[in-house]
Amino acid sequence: GAPIEVDLTPVAEGQIIKVFWRGKPIFVNHRTKKEIEEAVNVNLASLPDPQPDSARVKPGHANFQVLIGICTHLGCIPLTHAGAYNGYFCPCHGSVYDTSGRIRSGPAPLNLALPPYEFLSDTKIKIG
Ligand code: FES
Repeated sequence: GAPIEVDLTPVAEGQIIKVFWRGKPIFVNHRTKKEIEEAVNVNLASLPDPQPDSARVKPGHANFQVLIGICTHLGCIPLTHAGAYNGYFCPCHGSVYDTSGRIRSGPAPLNLALPPYEFLSDTKIKIG
């Protein structure tokens, strides 16, 4: 599949949009300052799949978190702005992910995967 470009200008702070890339749902979360702070300040030792928030965003663009919206348990599509961390909640078997897409509780073994992407400008990304 060809790469896609996504204009982030219409994505308000606090909003998550869904786009499709190679038939996969991609979630782009324009996180609030508070959400970013919470994601950064997590004790990594408490995570099932420890990854700092900085490893899940592009340098200088922590406000936009981009991930593949496919649960790492058995592949359902999680709900957005849901679950205890107001990140993602998979209704199939109850996996809870934070706003970084990291698994926090439930049967999913891994954090939500990240697609290959880059920022073309502060408000435009290319996925793929
Ligand atoms: Fe998501 Fe099982 S597929 S929790």
